[in-house]
Order: sequence, then structure tokens, then C-alpha cells
Amino acid sequence: MKNNIALIGFMGTGKTAVGRILAKKLKLEFIETDSVIENKTGQTIPQIFTDQGEMGFRELEIQAVKEIAYKQHAVIACGGGLVLNWINIDRLRQNAVVVNLTASPLVTLKRITRQVGQRPLLDVTDPITTIRDMIKFRKPFYERASDININTSKLTPEAVAEEIVRRIKEYESLNQ
Ligand code: S3P
Repeated sequence: MKNNIALIGFMGTGKTAVGRILAKKLKLEFIETDSVIENKTGQTIPQIFTDQGEMGFRELEIQAVKEIAYKQHAVIACGGGLVLNWINIDRLRQNAVVVNLTASPLVTLKRITRQVGQRPLLDVTDPITTIRDMIKFRKPFYERASDININTSKLTPEAVAEEIVRRIKEYESLNQ
């Protein structure tokens, strides 16, 4: 039986907030791919984007996932663009049930506005259009990678965590 839970989804869908609650609830380790990258490089995500561009960041992300994927009993909050490289999903799926969190573009904008300066890809003049376009482009990647999909737009992080626990039980009873 897989004993990790990987949370994927676009920026602002609550992967970090939900992941922390979920890990505490299930007594699992909490790991965030972005934090692993930041700790390893000694740089913040925006600094990495400035110095090495998105391509450089994606290479660091692939390396981080390679190291994390062998972990046991962990909740792994994945960076929003990790799904773009299928090798990451292949590696995570070996021991993780993959949960895709979604949110509407407007809810996403509202949530990310509270954390200004942290997401270089949304540091643009017309963020709502960028969010809409990026979600549209990435939707098939998220859906192809996931075992479970949850719309978080109207839910608190606690409610999302509860829903994940319920859906994972259901998933396990169907897949044992
Ligand atoms: C990214 C999402 C970010 C971070 C980086 C790129 C993306 O993580 O990995 O800024 O491409 O969607 P969060 O989804 O945790 O914000």
C-alpha cells in the first residue's frame, strides 16, 4: 500500500496550508518541494528564478523530487509546475496517492494576493489573465497525474484536509 500523499495543483490551491494540517492529523512527515530546493540552494524561489530562470528552477525541482520520492509516511506539497515534467510524477507515484487541489481563477488571485512577491510566474501586469491561461494549459497535466481531485474554492484548509482523509479511505478500499 502507498504510504505517502502528494498534493499537486496550481499556485494558491492551498497545498501548503492543507498539507501541514493533513500531516498533523495523520501523524506523517510534512515535506514541501519548494522548501527542499530553498534549503539546498540557500536561495529563495524568486532569487532562483532571477538567477537561473524557470529552466534552472525546473532542473532543481527534478533533483529535489528524485530525493524526496523514496520517503515513507510523508505528505508532500508539490510546487505548482512540478507536473510539467512527467518524470516527477512517475517518481512520486511509486509510493504516493496523488491528490489534485483546484480553485477558480478568482479565488486563486485572491489567495495569492495575500502573499505578494513569492511567485515570480505571477508577478505580471495582468495576473488574472495569466492565471486563467496557465490553469487552462496545465489542467490536463494535473488531471492526468491525479488519483483524487478536490475543488477547494469554497472550503477552508481544515475542511479540505478532512475531505482528503475521507477520499483516500474510499480510494484505498477501491484499490486494495
Ligand atoms: C510554481 C509554483 C510555486 C513554485 C514556483 C513555480 C509554478 O509553488 O514552485 O514559483 O510553476 O506553478 P506553489 O505552487 O507552492 O506556489
